Amino acid sequence: MQKYFLCRYDDLSEGQSKGFSLGDTAAGTDNIFTIMKDGEVYAYKNTCPHRGINLDWQEDQFLDPDGALIQCASHGALFKIESGECIAGPCTGDALTPVPVEYAQDGLYALLAD
Ligand code: FES
Repeated sequence: MQKYFLCRYDDLSEGQSKGFSLGDTAAGTDNIFTIMKDGEVYAYKNTCPHRGINLDWQEDQFLDPDGALIQCASHGALFKIESGECIAGPCTGDALTPVPVEYAQDGLYALLAD
């Protein structure tokens, strides 16, 4: 397991999403995104289970207009923030790949497999 620094806590905002490019990791080139909801940070790989492409068209925009669900910009699939489960769209029943995070003194880290 490798740790990758994402950001300081004050770079995250409640109800907002944020994308990160981790570059070349042991597991390949990894892009992930986070969402802070009710003070909890959820992180997923930035890969839509429908076509295997990034979910976002605009930087740091991963949520639907209400901020209630994760939305893929390509074909509109909707995912639960807490579980990554797709509940509407072309990949209903599939799920985003969660990324474990670690809360450290200096900020948030992503934990990725070697
Ligand atoms: S690529 Fe995400 S819904 Fe089609």
